[in-house]
Amino acid sequence: MIMKNLVVAIDGPAGAGKSSVAKKVAELLGLDYLDTGAIYRALAFYLNAMGFEPVESPYLTEILSKIKVSLSDGCVYINGADVTEHIRSPRVDSIVSSYAALPTVRRCLLSIQREQAEEGGLVADGRDMGTVVFPDATIKIYLTASDSVRAKRRHLQLLERGEKVSFDEVLRQIQNRDQFDSNREIAPLCQASDAIFVDTSSMTEDEVVDYLVRLVKENSNQV
Ligand code: DC
Repeated sequence: MIMKNLVVAIDGPAGAGKSSVAKKVAELLGLDYLDTGAIYRALAFYLNAMGFEPVESPYLTEILSKIKVSLSDGCVYINGADVTEHIRSPRVDSIVSSYAALPTVRRCLLSIQREQAEEGGLVADGRDMGTVVFPDATIKIYLTASDSVRAKRRHLQLLERGEKVSFDEVLRQIQNRDQFDSNREIAPLCQASDAIFVDTSSMTEDEVVDYLVRLVKENSNQV
């Protein structure tokens, strides 16, 4: 099934399963998938590696004007270098929110995100898809789950990747990150007033995917 010019905006806290669900929903609907967290992670990884502190400064503005962030086939590139392998580490988990809270960083990434919707329809996931980036999205979903369920999912992902980290540490980190992302001044994590709230605590990934595909079909004119 091909659903053209349709924007599905999915927001929610860390570890809600947004990325894996959004990717599958996009595949099933024949839409592109935009992982905006990957873009913020890539930029945070790069700025941190270059020694830039997460603070506003003329240097930050200058460096951002010279950085090109791009996405292709599920990979993210900074100035042509593939950084995909580096962006999901506990280290990046712990620094990304501070960089994502900077107005200069968010301004720099806004057009890149919107450009992705110009080619046709997409499913985009992040923190401000429905509130800032795609306020006119066809359908907005706020995907969440209890703190412990989200931490369990994230812990499993990290263990599968060979990262040695405890459940308590993962729980503490996602709670800190949500707190920070929800309380920043610019584009904080929050549910858009017209978003559909979906609590996935007791749902399997397949159930969430099926449910969202059904919601999209019901809420678009392309059933
Ligand atoms: O979805 P994620 O966990 O990969 O996102 C990583 C961080 O990036 C998240 O803690 C906050 C930031 N982010 C954001 O501020 N706005 C977005 N649209 C997506 C992510």
